[in-house]
Amino acid sequence: MSLLKEPDFGTPAKEGAATISLEVDGLPVSVPEGTSVMRAAALAGVDIPKLCATDRLDAFGSCRLCLVEIDGRRGTPASCTTPAADGMVVRTQTPKVARLRENVMELYISDHPLDCLTCGANGDCELQDMAGAVGLRQVRYGYEGENHFDAIKDQSNPYFDFDPSKCIVCSRCVRACDEIQGTFALTIEGRGFASKVSPGAGESFMDSECVSCGACVQACPTATLQERSVIELGMPSRSVITTCAYCGVGCSFKAELRGDELVRMVPHKDGGANEGHSCVKGRFAFGYATHPDRVLRPMVREKITDPWREVEWEEAIGTVARRMLEIRRLHGAGAIGAITSSRCTNEEVYVVQKMVRAAFGSNNVDTCARVCHSPTGYGLKQTFGESAGTQDFRSVAQADVIMVIGVNPTDGHPVFASRMKQRIRQGARLIVIDPRRIDLVRSPHITADHHLQLNPGTNVAVVNAIAHVVVTEGLVDESFIAARCEGFDEWAEFISREENSPEAVQQLTGVPAAEVRAAARLYAQASNGAIYYGLGVTEHSQGSTMVMGMANLAMACGNIGRDGVGVNPLRGQNNVQGSCDMGSFPHELSGYRHVSDDAVRQVFENLWGTTLLPEPGLRIPNMFDAALEGTFRGLFVHGEDIAQSDPNVGHVTAALSAMELVVVQDLFINETAKFAHVFLPGASFLEKDGTFTNAERRINRVRAVMKPKSGRHEWDIVCQVATAMGYPMHYDHPRQIMDEIATVTPTFAGVSFERLEQAGSIQWPCDADAPDGTPIMHVESFTRGKGRFVPTPFVPTEERSTRRFPLILTTGRILSQYNVGAQTRRTANIAWHQEDLLEIHPHDAEDRGITDGDEVTLASRVGQTKLRAKISDRMPTGVVYTTFHYPVTGANVVTTENSDWATNCPEYKVTAVQVALARPAVRDRTAHAQDGVLAVELVD
Ligand code: SF4
Ligand code: SF4
Ligand code: SF4
Ligand code: FES
Repeated sequence: MSLLKEPDFGTPAKEGAATISLEVDGLPVSVPEGTSVMRAAALAGVDIPKLCATDRLDAFGSCRLCLVEIDGRRGTPASCTTPAADGMVVRTQTPKVARLRENVMELYISDHPLDCLTCGANGDCELQDMAGAVGLRQVRYGYEGENHFDAIKDQSNPYFDFDPSKCIVCSRCVRACDEIQGTFALTIEGRGFASKVSPGAGESFMDSECVSCGACVQACPTATLQERSVIELGMPSRSVITTCAYCGVGCSFKAELRGDELVRMVPHKDGGANEGHSCVKGRFAFGYATHPDRVLRPMVREKITDPWREVEWEEAIGTVARRMLEIRRLHGAGAIGAITSSRCTNEEVYVVQKMVRAAFGSNNVDTCARVCHSPTGYGLKQTFGESAGTQDFRSVAQADVIMVIGVNPTDGHPVFASRMKQRIRQGARLIVIDPRRIDLVRSPHITADHHLQLNPGTNVAVVNAIAHVVVTEGLVDESFIAARCEGFDEWAEFISREENSPEAVQQLTGVPAAEVRAAARLYAQASNGAIYYGLGVTEHSQGSTMVMGMANLAMACGNIGRDGVGVNPLRGQNNVQGSCDMGSFPHELSGYRHVSDDAVRQVFENLWGTTLLPEPGLRIPNMFDAALEGTFRGLFVHGEDIAQSDPNVGHVTAALSAMELVVVQDLFINETAKFAHVFLPGASFLEKDGTFTNAERRINRVRAVMKPKSGRHEWDIVCQVATAMGYPMHYDHPRQIMDEIATVTPTFAGVSFERLEQAGSIQWPCDADAPDGTPIMHVESFTRGKGRFVPTPFVPTEERSTRRFPLILTTGRILSQYNVGAQTRRTANIAWHQEDLLEIHPHDAEDRGITDGDEVTLASRVGQTKLRAKISDRMPTGVVYTTFHYPVTGANVVTTENSDWATNCPEYKVTAVQVALARPAVRDRTAHAQDGVLAVELVD
């Protein structure tokens, strides 16, 4: 359990500067130069009253409550805006400042509703606290004068209320939105008494640019901006620190409870990944965990056409074990396997892969990372020697040039995007390489220096062209290459060929050669150049090639091994990194060690007391093919909805239908469960103990804030299945699983729950050489010794636009929804995104007679679906875009089985399609009255 209120030192910490010493109320204190008097006082143990100051924001100096007296200086300066100086003597409690503070507070209170006892913030209101701290006993001005008591509430946001009658115009909300979140949605309108907080130009929060991150709510010292859950449920009384279960940023939260009820999630200030910030999903979208759709009792059925039958746990577990054993007896161990989940904890993933290898007797275990970041694992291992990103998130604050490739951080990784935007506002230059004009290209106070709007499927040609410029214009870091790398000459000869020049590829890529040259020079000449990328890099037929292409580029420019540089995958799901680390690929045991390595296998065989197969098992797409051939018959799907998230859904569902036994462990009956014979209820992240590993290799603790609603822990259910199959697996607690992981995995050797309790979080590798973990990798040398340049010839995808399918479809996600939407669709986040839309360029739309809101048919060579069109020039002509959050749209019905040559990661980002008008949107109800109910639903 942690403190509900975290200490607030008033102004941000200053780092790295020389130390100065001063005295506050007779107490000596030493602080870095540049520290405010307020912070120095707080560090000395003296709390100075404050309202407009908080240590998350730059000092503003508006409330005048923090006045102090300083020996030798005239007047009463504001301690939040006054820098401490060496030898300074500060007095914070003189009669003079006490009188001034009381006057200030009197003015505030005279225009503040006196409803403290019934106010939602009672007990958590800084105005209330400060009135007490300054000893306010009376308000001489009375309450009869002009005031704001009747100001109208804005309740447009589903998660928080804005009650301007309680506003003290401290501007903390405005500054939080600007400085922390970087959305600039709020302003202070008017002057003097008339000044007020306004979202946008007098709009409601919902109609403004607000992205509902909640930073303003957290910053507000009064009940003006307040979570609806606190208003409805009351102030929480205890908290548990845990980790968000949505994206790969891995934000830490204090889950605040009242009794056993979760009231709110407050981003944890000490969270290594988020440092007190969050997005709408992590802070507000936790309602799915208690949604009535949750399945809490195990269910079985003989055939998928039978109705489900609720059973006791023992019967469900026994059924799984009996039927898996039966398949194994008749068809061999190669006929059964499992898919692990990147949404589950490291400990759960570890026991699932152990169950497959030790109890099933095969290596047929794969992970949903197969369909997202498997090329990252391959590409970075080949070049750097480690299947993981090189930096911690903090590192971006040192980057001078940031290259964002195939990722949309403001929607997919919002808290990291805020960090990145802070750095760009400080002056870092930005290069965006993406077919779509993502928000980062142009947003308040951010303008990309270069947007290379390439044709989908031409990533490798573009990165090669950039590297071509770097090499042929002599921009390489020769000393870094000579000291740290191998294979440069061969690569340089390849990349210098004319066929890789920006001019040679510009027609193919659609990117003007001059833009490529300018971007290449900018990146190569930066003191620190950092690359961040996502699924727009990996989900291609050359996903692994592209990862190696970026690694080559970074090495050529010496941009590896220190702060502000690196090659960094922004991982999609909360535990993609962890699920890969835990050995859930069919060819690798934990720590990315090949199953064919006798010495590695021996370690596991000795500990597990069994013999392991030296040959890799089946990958997910191979499992589907083998199922259709009749050689793969039993699948345990742990927390993944493959029937919605994998490509060519028709093929996936045919494969699932062909299997004798499909076991699904999940929170809800998802699309995959429709093909299942056994359903095992899962636990939400709020019910779990364990760890997640985020995109920066940070191992974060997940702590249960409530008991599993189904009565069982997921890791325990897996162990019971293994045991029932004749391979006893038993742990008392997930900490024992982590101890085992540390025993068999060198990069986790120093990790334990005890260490995590002390450190908060640890970035692997964590071993004897790096007992506190490794924020930045490859500092002195690469994990593989020398960094390896790998030639990366561009090979066009076989997926081409044709006369029949003339457009290219690419896919992505939206801020308010998450993956297949199983969680976010069961929260109030649907207020922002009720359906998947097809973004189409105005010219392509006009050619097809399509207007905004029309229902259109989206067809590829493998399938077709219908959805509504959104006319948008974010895409170039010839390219359409959609999200994949709603099963009813089934965007993956049209994606093909093309995949990355090295890893089989599907080529989600390039599908040749045709779009045709299916049904016009009804813009005039009277004209289309005969269209009935459906027509009304389609009205804009
Ligand atoms: S809404 Fe809250 S944070 Fe914003 S100005 Fe008013 S009191 Fe300050
Ligand atoms: S919720 Fe976030 S984006 Fe919206 S106004 Fe507040 S700080 Fe800005
Ligand atoms: S950025 Fe990601 S990890 Fe952080 S709160 Fe949002 S969804 Fe959760
Ligand atoms: S806290 Fe210093 S002026 Fe408001």
